Amino acid sequence: MSEPVIKCENVYKIFGANAQKMLQDSNGNVDAKTFQENGCIVGVNNASFEVSKGEMLVVMGLSGSGKSTLLRCISRLTDATGGKIFIEGQDLLQLNNKDLIDLRRNKMGMVFQSFALLPHKTVVENIAFPLQIKGVKTEESISKAMDMVKLVGLDGRENYFPRELSGGQQQRVGIARSLAVEPDIWFLDEPFSALDPLIRKEMQDEFLRLQEKLQKTIMFITHDFDEALKLADRIAIMKDGIIEQLDTPANIVLNPATEYVRKFTEEVPREKVLLIEDVMDKSKDNLGDLKVSKDEIIENVAEKILTQEKSVAVVDSNKNIIGSINPAKIINTVFGGRKNNN
Ligand SMILES: Nc1ncnc2c1ncn2[C@@H]1O[C@H](COP(=O)(O)OP(=O)(O)OP(=O)(O)O)[C@@H](O)[C@H]1O
Ligand SMILES: [Mg+2]
Repeated sequence: MSEPVIKCENVYKIFGANAQKMLQDSNGNVDAKTFQENGCIVGVNNASFEVSKGEMLVVMGLSGSGKSTLLRCISRLTDATGGKIFIEGQDLLQLNNKDLIDLRRNKMGMVFQSFALLPHKTVVENIAFPLQIKGVKTEESISKAMDMVKLVGLDGRENYFPRELSGGQQQRVGIARSLAVEPDIWFLDEPFSALDPLIRKEMQDEFLRLQEKLQKTIMFITHDFDEALKLADRIAIMKDGIIEQLDTPANIVLNPATEYVRKFTEEVPREKVLLIEDVMDKSKDNLGDLKVSKDEIIENVAEKILTQEKSVAVVDSNKNIIGSINPAKIINTVFGGRKNNN
C-alpha cells in the first residue's frame, strides 16, 4: 500500500492559556469537563487516522464537535496542541514558514461555507486570483481560470460579479477558485450548508462528478448525515472532539460503535446505503437463475429479488458467484434491521 496522504497521530487541539501544560500533565487522557473547569476548551481530543490518495473522508458531527478545528490543524491554519500530522510523509509541524506557505499554495485547496469571494472582482478574476498570487502571469492565469469556469459549469457567467450570482453559483466559483491551483489535497468545510436543498443536491452530484474525474484526496465536513453517506468513502463521526467511529458508510449503518453514532443512523433508509455485498450470505447452495452484482445498492435490485422463489446468486466483477441473497434477507434489511443491529 502506498503512503497515506494525510496521517494524524494522537492529535489534540486545546484552547486556553494553560492548554499545553494541562495536556502534558494529563498524559494524553483528556477529560473535556475537567479541562473546562480549568479554563480550557477541548477542540480535538486524541485523533488518529489516515487518508489515502484519492480517498474522500467525510467528517461529521454536531455543531461544536470539533470538525472545523480538526481541519484547521491539518491545514495548519492553527497549530495542534499535541500529536503529529504528516502530509505525504512530511511532518507538518516541522515545516518552516516558507515550506508551509508553499504547501498551502501548491498542494492544498480549501473551500468554506461562506463563499468568501472578492466582491469587486468578476467570476473569472476571482478564480484567477490565487494563481496570480503564486506569480502566474495575468493572461495565463485568466486562461487557466476559464478552464475552471467550464469545469464547474459557469461558462457564460465569467464576467459577472459575485452579487449577480445565486448562492449555488457563488459556491461553484469558490470551488473553481480552490481548484485553479490544482491542489492534491482538498479541504471543504461545510461547503454546501448555505445552499437550499435542491441546489445543494445538485452541487453534491456535481461534486461527485468532479471527484470522479479529479481523484483528489479530500476531507469534507458536514453535519448532514445524508450528505456524508452520499459522498464519503469513509466517514469519521466526531463528538466533543473525539472521533467516535471512522468507517465506511455501510459499516457505520450496520455496526454503529456508540449510542451517539447509532442516533445518526436511526433514520437512514438502509436499502439506500447498503450494497448487496454488505448483507449477502456466503452460501452458494440452491440458487435460482437470477444473478445480481455485489456492488448494487440494495434499493436498486430489491424488487427483482423479492419476486424470486429461490436464492439469488451474487456475482463479482468477473461474473464469479461469490455468495447468495434471498428475499427474506432483503425484507429483513429493509424493515427489520433498524431496531436490532445484531
Ligand atoms: N479559537 C477558539 N478559541 C476557543 N475555543 C474554540 C476556538 N475555536 C473553536 N473553539 C471551540 O472548540 C470546539 C470545536 O469547535 P469547532 O468549530 O471545531 O466545531 P465544529 O464541529 O466545526 O462546529 P460547527 O458545525 O458549528 O461548525 C467548540 O467548543 C468551540 O467553541
Ligand atoms: Mg465548523
